[in-house]
Amino acid sequence: MTKITTNDSLEEAANCLSMGGTVAFPTETVYGLGADAFCDVAIDKIYKAKGRPSDNPLIVHICRKEDVDNLAENISPDARALMDKFWPGPLTIILHKRKCVPFRVTGGLDTVAVRYPSNKIAQKLIELSGKYIAAPSANLSGSPSPTSSAHVIDDLDGRVDYIVAFDNCEIGLESTVVDMTSDKPLILRPGAVTPEMLAEIIPDVELDSSLIDGDSKPKCPGMKYKHYSPKADVEVVSGTKENIRKFILSKLDTDEKIGVLTYKGGDYDNAHCVLAGGNSMTEYAASLFYNLRVFDEYGVSKVYAEFCEEGGIGLAVKNRLYKSAGNKITRV
Ligand code: TXA
Ligand code: MG
Repeated sequence: MTKITTNDSLEEAANCLSMGGTVAFPTETVYGLGADAFCDVAIDKIYKAKGRPSDNPLIVHICRKEDVDNLAENISPDARALMDKFWPGPLTIILHKRKCVPFRVTGGLDTVAVRYPSNKIAQKLIELSGKYIAAPSANLSGSPSPTSSAHVIDDLDGRVDYIVAFDNCEIGLESTVVDMTSDKPLILRPGAVTPEMLAEIIPDVELDSSLIDGDSKPKCPGMKYKHYSPKADVEVVSGTKENIRKFILSKLDTDEKIGVLTYKGGDYDNAHCVLAGGNSMTEYAASLFYNLRVFDEYGVSKVYAEFCEEGGIGLAVKNRLYKSAGNKITRV
């Protein structure tokens, strides 16, 4: 049975982690499903609860910057500079793993992904557990990452030991993943720490080619799987606001239950369900996974998502949205 708890009983949840149990908890990006990174049995529970392929490595979460040295070695000055600038926060850094880090958690790789979250509940839980906490997003494999405790409960109630139910996650998309183990720093997954922000510290940073041309194989093992998909069929509509509106309106004269995700407002009276993506890419990011799940709750079979390419966190939004649409994009 899953115990659903709040901030008040963090000690119990932390004890559960130290005893090899599984605990879902909030972070500033998305909810995570945590377990002791050094306990193979606990890690297996994560893979099982999520239905996740075990070649897909997990991020190890810490609650003090200096803990990184217990997990990784040969850390470059550039990687240190990133930690100084962006930790705690939504940046995961891939480093050379120390021998003590189990291959179970790295999916057999010689590298380890490390993240120091800024969310205070996450920090406190990790600290109280006295462990390094491996945590993927707290969703069933393939569905959108959960950004509210209700959505964690939908996916994982009955499958994990504890759910720490707290506020919605402020960023709403998973952390930026940057690989600092090869000659050139590579962004494997875009997030709230944008390429522009990284380039201020490490000017030679590049995007993994799969983020530029959708056909090449991603270096981040998890990015090759189908991801972020609600039950509805999603189609991204991109272009001028006027053309997007005309296109979507032309699709609404049907018996099908259609959902529309708007950007910067929009009326679609004939749609079954209209959800607002907000007025900036930051707002769109914060609500995207949440909205995709709400469309499912309304039972829509098709979603048209308004999208305009914009900088900053826009790259991360585009990455997740295009994946949820299986790259079905109409440019108008
Ligand atoms: O914001 C986040 O990062 C959230 C919260 C809970 O911290 N966690 C998260 O974990 O998104 P997950 O497992 O859903 O995504 C981790 C991604 C996967 O695509 C995985 O393949 C990649 O990071 N990854 C982990 N270790 C790696 C490694 N050693 N080398 C390359 N990619 C790695
Ligand atoms: Mg995930």
